[in-house]
Amino acid sequence: MALPQPRLDAPFNVTRASHVVLTGKDLAASRAFYADIIGLVVTYEDESCLYLRGLEEACHHSLVIRKDGGAGVCERIGLRVFTERDLELAKKYFDSVGIAARWVDVPFQGRTLHLDDACGMPVELCATMDDVPRYMQDFHRFHGASPQRLDHFQIVASDVERATRFYTDIGFRITEYTATDGTEDLWGVWLQRKGNTHDIVFTNGEGPRLHHFAFTIPDTHDLIHICDVAGSLGIADVIDRGPGRHGISNALFVYLRDPDGHRIELFTTHYQAIDIETRPIRWDLSNTRRSQLWGLPASKRWFFEATRFKDKKTSEPVLKADPVTLEKFLAMGR
Ligand SMILES: [Fe+2]
Repeated sequence: MALPQPRLDAPFNVTRASHVVLTGKDLAASRAFYADIIGLVVTYEDESCLYLRGLEEACHHSLVIRKDGGAGVCERIGLRVFTERDLELAKKYFDSVGIAARWVDVPFQGRTLHLDDACGMPVELCATMDDVPRYMQDFHRFHGASPQRLDHFQIVASDVERATRFYTDIGFRITEYTATDGTEDLWGVWLQRKGNTHDIVFTNGEGPRLHHFAFTIPDTHDLIHICDVAGSLGIADVIDRGPGRHGISNALFVYLRDPDGHRIELFTTHYQAIDIETRPIRWDLSNTRRSQLWGLPASKRWFFEATRFKDKKTSEPVLKADPVTLEKFLAMGR
C-alpha cells in the first residue's frame, strides 16, 4: 500500500486538537485528580460537569468531564477550525462526501459541527470558545505537573489506513508512521495540522477507542515531580507508564490513569514540523526504539486498554500485527 498523501489545498482549515469530553462517575474524584494533583485549572463546574484547561490556555476548556454513573467513556474529541467560514466549508465538504454533519449548540463554544469520522469516532469542530485569562505567568498556581495546554489525542483504530485517508483528505500531514516490517502496511500514524509532530495519532487495534489525550508540561522535572506527588500520596498505581522517552516524536513522557481509567499523557519536547519537503519518518513495528528510545517496552495494559466512545461499537483490527510488549520482551529472555 502507498502512504496516503496529504491534501495541501485542504477543503477547510483545521488548526489544532482542541478538547476532549469524557464521562466520570464521581466529579469530586475527577476534580481531585485533574485539578488538585495534576494541576489543571477549573474554569467552570456544577453538579453535572467539570470544565478544565491548561495553565497557559486562553480558551474556556480543553478537558470536559460529565457526570455519568456508568463505565467511563469518551463522548467526543474536539478540533478547532480557524474561522466561522471554515466551519461552513467543513459542512459543505462533509455533505459533498456523504458524511452526516449537523449543527449543535455546545455551552461555552461558538457554533459547533458534529460528525463521525471514517473510523466511527465522534468529532466536533468549532472556531471559537469563550475566552478566559492565561495563567502562564501565575507561577503561584503551578503545582503537580503544571500542565500548560492540550496537545494531541491518540486513538485506537481498527483500520488505520482508512482513518489516515479521512484526515489526509482534510489536510492533515503525516510526520511519522509505523508499518509492519518490510511493508507499508500502516500500524500507526502521527498526523498534524498545528506544526508540531501530531494532533491525532491512530494505532492499530480494536477500535475506535481513545487511548490517551496529552498535555504539554513546562520542564523535565515536572514529570518527576508528578511521580513523586503520586508516590507521596500513596497512589503510585495511577502511573501507567514511564517516565521515558519516545523514539517517535521525541517526547519525554509519563502516562497516568484517572479515577475512571481514562489515560492522560504529560510530556515535553515535541519538535517543529512545518516545511512541506520534509518526509515522514518510517519505523518498523518490531523496532522497540520507536516506542521508547531507552528503557523497557510498555506493558500489554498500555498497548491494549483504552476508553470506549459513548454508544459506539468497536471492531477488530483489519491488520493482524502486535507490537512488542513488556511481557513479550521479557518472555524472549532479554
Ligand atoms: Fe501521546
